[in-house]
Amino acid sequence: MKENRETAKDDKELPQTPNQRPRTQFLLFWGQWFVLMLLPCFGTSACDKVNSDALLSLALKAPLNLNWSAFTDCCLWEGITCGPGDQGHVIRLWLPRRGLTGVIHPSITSLTHLTHLNLSHNSLLGSLPDDLFSSLSSLQVIDLSFNHLIDRLPPSSNKISQLQVLNLSSNFFTGTIPSSILVPSVSIFNVSNNSFSGLIPINNGSNHTSLTFLDLSYNQLTDTIPPGIGLCSKLQVFRAGFNNLSGSLPDEIFNLSDLRQLSLPVNSLTGPINDVDGIMNLTNLQILKIFSNQLSGPIPSQIGSLSRLENLLLHINNLTGPLPLSLANSTKLSALNLRVNNLTGDLSSFNFSPLQRLTTLDLGNNNFTGEFPKSLYSCKSLTAIRLAGNQLTGQISPEIVPLESLAFLSISNNSMTNATGALRILQGQVPTWLAKLKNLRALDLSFNLITGSVPGWLASLPNLFYIDLSNNLLQGGFPNELCRMPVLTSKEASDKVDRTYIELPVFVNRTKASQLYSQLSNLPPGIYLSNNSLNGSIPIEIGQLKFIHVLDLSHNNFSSSIPDQISNLTNLEKLDLSYNQLSGQIPASLKDLHFLSSFSVEYNDLQGLIPSGGQFDTFTISSFEGNPGLCGPPTPKRSCHQSPQSPPQVLEVTRRSKTQTILIALIFGIFFGIGFGFGFNMDDKKNSNNWRA
Ligand SMILES: *[C@@H]1O[C@H](CO)[C@@H](O)[C@H](O)[C@H]1NC(C)=O
Ligand SMILES: *[C@@H]1O[C@H](CO)[C@@H](O)[C@H](O)[C@H]1NC(C)=O
Ligand SMILES: *[C@@H]1O[C@H](CO)[C@@H](O)[C@H](O)[C@H]1NC(C)=O
Ligand SMILES: *[C@@H]1O[C@H](CO)[C@@H](O)[C@H](O)[C@H]1NC(C)=O
Ligand SMILES: *[C@@H]1O[C@H](CO)[C@@H](O)[C@H](O)[C@H]1NC(C)=O
Ligand SMILES: *[C@@H]1O[C@H](CO)[C@@H](O)[C@H](O)[C@H]1NC(C)=O
Ligand SMILES: *[C@@H]1O[C@H](CO)[C@@H](O)[C@H](O)[C@H]1NC(C)=O
Ligand SMILES: *[C@@H]1O[C@H](CO)[C@@H](O)[C@H](O)[C@H]1NC(C)=O
Ligand SMILES: *[C@@H]1O[C@H](CO)[C@@H](O)[C@H](O)[C@H]1NC(C)=O
Repeated sequence: MKENRETAKDDKELPQTPNQRPRTQFLLFWGQWFVLMLLPCFGTSACDKVNSDALLSLALKAPLNLNWSAFTDCCLWEGITCGPGDQGHVIRLWLPRRGLTGVIHPSITSLTHLTHLNLSHNSLLGSLPDDLFSSLSSLQVIDLSFNHLIDRLPPSSNKISQLQVLNLSSNFFTGTIPSSILVPSVSIFNVSNNSFSGLIPINNGSNHTSLTFLDLSYNQLTDTIPPGIGLCSKLQVFRAGFNNLSGSLPDEIFNLSDLRQLSLPVNSLTGPINDVDGIMNLTNLQILKIFSNQLSGPIPSQIGSLSRLENLLLHINNLTGPLPLSLANSTKLSALNLRVNNLTGDLSSFNFSPLQRLTTLDLGNNNFTGEFPKSLYSCKSLTAIRLAGNQLTGQISPEIVPLESLAFLSISNNSMTNATGALRILQGQVPTWLAKLKNLRALDLSFNLITGSVPGWLASLPNLFYIDLSNNLLQGGFPNELCRMPVLTSKEASDKVDRTYIELPVFVNRTKASQLYSQLSNLPPGIYLSNNSLNGSIPIEIGQLKFIHVLDLSHNNFSSSIPDQISNLTNLEKLDLSYNQLSGQIPASLKDLHFLSSFSVEYNDLQGLIPSGGQFDTFTISSFEGNPGLCGPPTPKRSCHQSPQSPPQVLEVTRRSKTQTILIALIFGIFFGIGFGFGFNMDDKKNSNNWRA
């Protein structure tokens, strides 16, 4: 994903800000250097003057933690290795993760015997010295990854003929990648996550028989994948995703029988994935990722002969035809994502049961027909299933419950034709067996036709922190039980929930723009009940949901006053109570909610002075419209006489206890009812384009 690119850049250490201390170090260094010159050189590998000189020029930029002043002989310096014999030539300069800043001083090119150079994970700036590659012709290993290096690569003209490892990844290099740098001895070549343009540096006819890892991903490379790739006969990993590559996959790629990983996502590749014979040669293939391209034609029918295949990610293409039956023979398959294609055929005829390692299955937004594939119920490793946006019929059966690892299920927008089944899938009450999914962390049943009441037993799910039941036909009150959701009430439970990982990226319709969430940690803990027919008062117990970030009760029939206890929700960022029948005053204590950045009580029946101070000074009139009784800034009514409108507390308590009695009855109804309601609404074909951007 493109997002990762930014993250990778952000992850880099920031350049250190200059301060007094390095300057002191500078002087100290020259003091030492003076002493060094007076000392006679002895020992087996005393540092050669030219080398020492060069290193010290580099060291001018070194921070304090480089302990070079302790010895006069540079061969004993940290990160430096000299060659055997008494010449004292520096052969290794190995200083990764040392907080080095500044440009790489041109004097580095005096270290002509250098074989190993590792300055990765520092904050080096500027461009590489012009004669770096031509002078340091003994280099075997160069690792300058994770710095802030810029500009074009210096010419190499095949001088570094012993080079085996070149890692320049995660910098800001531009220009073309000169193919002369990819000398025949290179085995690992990684220039990913830069801004290189131009062609893939593989020439037809050149010799790349040592190349095992080639990573060109996250650049701006253009044109086609050269057929010369077929000559890299030892290639095991080929990544060139997130570029602007076009054309079709060259047949030659299927000669690479050692290939374990072929990763070309987010390009503009067209044409079919090669024919039967082609892909069958790649018997070692474990990862095939060509998502977000314009591939067409069918998935090769013999794909199942790739017995080592673990990840098959071909989503967001224009693939047609069925899910090849042979794929059931790829029993190591763990992730299968074919979302957003034009695949067809009866899905229930595919036998998923041999795929016992399958963890994520995403076949959403295709044209699959048939019943929900029952063989899926036997794939016990499944953590995520998305079949949304197809023409599947039938229904989800409670047989899904033994899939204990399942944390994500999306089956919205299908064609359930069996009237009974369809009714049970798309309408009805929230299914009680959901209560057995103890791992469930987020539940989105929005935009369905779910009737009945908001199930209080959702609070029995120990990991649940996100409930979206908005845009349904729910009735009844806000269940007090919900105010006891463990993750939203207890710091301990909240800290325990693993939010680092979400099985599949989800689209959540929030406000006008739908957002893509690929990490649960970005999903704000919240309760969304907007646009139902809920009524009664908002329970005072709501004050217990201390870890909630979003509370959206808008577009319902909630009445009575806004409970003071909402001011206990100190993490609240968004509170939407608009379009209800709330009365009384806005509790002044709400101004203590320091994180509240979005607030609306529009179109209620509220009265009195709008609180001032805190975040309330940032809310505009639009937050309060449609409440003629409200006064004070930001309304045009500058002042108002306090109306004695707040209802007597006794009345409120009575009303509340009545609600409770009703609720208990309703909850019993849910527990013993047979109602089923299911359907996630999280993705949408048109949104799928967003995550390419
Ligand atoms: C620097 O080297 C000297 C001499 O070996 C040693 O005593 C000292 O602890 C070292 N300091 C650091 C920060 O490594
Ligand atoms: C360079 O050093 C880093 C950090 O220790 C290490 O991860 C990396 O593998 C090294 N590079 C090479 C090519 O060995
Ligand atoms: C290339 O380097 C990046 C980090 O910059 C790393 O994530 C990636 O795995 C490396 N590629 C290969 C093939 O090792
Ligand atoms: C996808 O394939 C269909 C049928 O092969 C074709 O009509 C359509 O133009 C293709 N769409 C794109 C975006 O390539
Ligand atoms: C799976 O492999 C076996 C043995 O190679 C073969 O006989 C069978 O036809 C394959 N199954 C499918 C569905 O292709
Ligand atoms: C339902 O799925 C179809 C086919 O994938 C798609 O065109 C349509 O936009 C989807 N509708 C919704 C509301 O997601
Ligand atoms: C429709 O679904 C109901 C409930 O699952 C089932 O009893 C019935 O056999 C189904 N009818 C058809 C025609 O599939
Ligand atoms: C509420 O839901 C109805 C039907 O589900 C829909 O037509 C209406 O636009 C929704 N209102 C809002 C404000 O989302
Ligand atoms: C609100 O917070 C106060 C102080 O932390 C506490 O005493 C009170 O019980 C809380 N009220 C509710 C309803 O949680």
